Amino acid sequence: MENRREPCNFVIFGATGNLVRDKLLPALYQLENASLLGPTLQFTAMARRPLSQENWIDAMREALQKQLGANFEAAVFQRFARRFSYLRGDHREDATYTAMKEHLAQPSAMTGAACENIVFYLAIPPNDFFNVVTQLHRAGFSGGQERHRIVVEKPFGEDLESARKLNAHLHNYFSEEQIYRIDHYLGKETVQNLLVFRFANSLIEPIWNRNYIDHVQITVAESQGIGTRAGYYDSTGALRDMLQNHMMQLLSVVAMEPPAQLDADALRDEKVKVLRSIRPIPRRAVNNYAFRAQYGAGVVDGEAVLGYQDESGVEENSTTETYVAAKFYVDNWRWSGVPFYLRTGKRLHEQLSLISIRFRHPPRQLFRETPLANLEPNWVILSLQPHESMHVEIHAKQPGLGMNTRATKLYATFREEDEKSTDAYETLLLDVIEGDRSLFIRFDEVEMAWQVVDPILRQWSHDVDYINTYPAGSWGPEEADRLFDSEEHEWRNHV
Ligand code: BG6
Repeated sequence: MENRREPCNFVIFGATGNLVRDKLLPALYQLENASLLGPTLQFTAMARRPLSQENWIDAMREALQKQLGANFEAAVFQRFARRFSYLRGDHREDATYTAMKEHLAQPSAMTGAACENIVFYLAIPPNDFFNVVTQLHRAGFSGGQERHRIVVEKPFGEDLESARKLNAHLHNYFSEEQIYRIDHYLGKETVQNLLVFRFANSLIEPIWNRNYIDHVQITVAESQGIGTRAGYYDSTGALRDMLQNHMMQLLSVVAMEPPAQLDADALRDEKVKVLRSIRPIPRRAVNNYAFRAQYGAGVVDGEAVLGYQDESGVEENSTTETYVAAKFYVDNWRWSGVPFYLRTGKRLHEQLSLISIRFRHPPRQLFRETPLANLEPNWVILSLQPHESMHVEIHAKQPGLGMNTRATKLYATFREEDEKSTDAYETLLLDVIEGDRSLFIRFDEVEMAWQVVDPILRQWSHDVDYINTYPAGSWGPEEADRLFDSEEHEWRNHV
């Protein structure tokens, strides 16, 4: 049956930007490939560049061929490209909205009727969200119940106050049902799998608490630098780009209580409770809880790379952080006293995203007098990237006469070699098209996450004269180790 709410036009603001090239287009292409895009759905790619329709199609083809390699199929691309029109326009200018309105009022080549159900996807710098919302309203695209949907990328605001203002502004013109606040980490398979791992296995849940868990680490390491994104990144930094959103979402899914049922709001309620329970960081103690740094020149994957300051478009003497490590305590019954260490950075040693849970030592060291005296405790490792997998690291005796052990991994891959991987954007874009908001963020989640990081942001906004550095290709600054509560703690850099 036809989905009456399904959009007929999907307008992409900022169509020539990195996000669209690297994430949105490949995901939409895959949906086309899987025949999941309705027959009447069209896309309007909007950007400032003076491209002809042909130029745009060529640029799209080139980007997709580069990304997909041998998986690029000319016939699929042909179908896909037919859905697109390129509309030249600056989203900061009034005239653009007049042109867009005219464009959307034209009868569609596929249905013969003008398009009424429209998605507006804001893949533009966050500073422009506010203005675009006003402009969409003036052009008559607000209201209209769920006919008009607006997708807002992260970061949502640049601090607590601006996030509240942006949200109030959105709500002046759009209802909550029309707003899709996206955090693509929620569309990642491993994140959804974490819920299954925790709540579908009775083995796990009883030990998922302070009685058994010593600490939690969440690492999102990237080997890439900022590429051509200096315009956005230099005024944003790792704390706003990754920690406030993606990493806080990961933390809340690791730490949340089982919801009463698995509906979207029950899950969000539990995540918000976690964020509310995070111990506020006193402004004068920020240095005990958070550490920032910037990459210097170095070698990544055998190639010499520039330091951040020398990347094109970065302000001279910029103190924007490309690395952040932080420690949080979730002060509730389950997690009291358990540190959560989070870190993320660009130009680190390798591309690796892990949630690593370290368990406590057994209550008695029975093997004290044997070669096993210094046994590492157990770990559960959930890998998000590059492979989606889960490992439980336990100890077993090595066969033979002596009392020697080896760490054995119980390995559960989430996806077999022959199973297709689904990119987070595929999942989320399909949800937008189908009008399913369950994997999108509610404002109180955004708000609480800003509340948690706001003291750090404020303190750092005063310390603008100096920033530590780390060599590109390393695992980040050693000084970040000072966040650890115990000498025994160290970053886990491998699965
Ligand atoms: C984006 C950030 O939200 O996430 C980027 O803006 C970052 O800086 C990217 O590189 C990481 O996403 P993924 O899916 O590659 O881990």
